[in-house]
Amino acid sequence: MTQDEAKALVGKRAAEMVESGMRVGLGTGSTSVAFIKALGARVQAEGLKIRCVASSDSSTELGRSLGMDVVTLEELPELDLYIDGADEVAISPNGEFYLIKGGGAALLREKIVASAAEKFICVVDQSKMVPKLGKFPLPVEIIKMARPLVERRLADLGLNPVLRRKKDDSGPVLTDEQNYLLDCHCGVIEDPEETAAEIRSIVGVVEHGLFLGMASKVLIAGENGVEEREA
Ligand code: 5RP
Repeated sequence: MTQDEAKALVGKRAAEMVESGMRVGLGTGSTSVAFIKALGARVQAEGLKIRCVASSDSSTELGRSLGMDVVTLEELPELDLYIDGADEVAISPNGEFYLIKGGGAALLREKIVASAAEKFICVVDQSKMVPKLGKFPLPVEIIKMARPLVERRLADLGLNPVLRRKKDDSGPVLTDEQNYLLDCHCGVIEDPEETAAEIRSIVGVVEHGLFLGMASKVLIAGENGVEEREA
């Protein structure tokens, strides 16, 4: 199975978990695109009645293009379910899911929408499962003006921050909230709770991509189909 096939499979399985009447948070990234497309297909084919809030402008546009009712968090402040991908998933010593998110530059809105939901289901392919977080660079969203300060503080913590630039190198990536991203090439994160607290204490940091204990279920697509794991 290719990675794209795995993403399509897990996205479809997640879409099957949505029930009529639910208030649903839509994630961001290619796995979430597969989920949103599968959910949109159910809305069109079955007349599934759902209302949604998306974690990025791109997911808002995709959902609406598929005929889904995607509104703002102000209009729909409480959600039943949030479904989103991740860049890495590890299991903490006490059985919680530790995630790195933000590879798609949407970590701030993703954390906000996930926090507004009663339940967060994470959807990944097997390649995202790791024993410890940190191979994938940890994204940190920062206020533009604070860049020199935050970069220095993150470097002092040994986290090796690098400003994320556009693929064509025409300038820094801007998030939907018009902030910069620093990708921290820190290697294995031995104590994610401590690292999260250290990053959060830096003035100018808006949010970081460590999602600790937020997802209660992870769907993992692999050669044998989709495995469900509960925290
Ligand atoms: C976006 C995210 C994505 O969920 C994460 O990057 C995974 O993306 P993909 O499903 O494309 O592998 O956190 O900010």
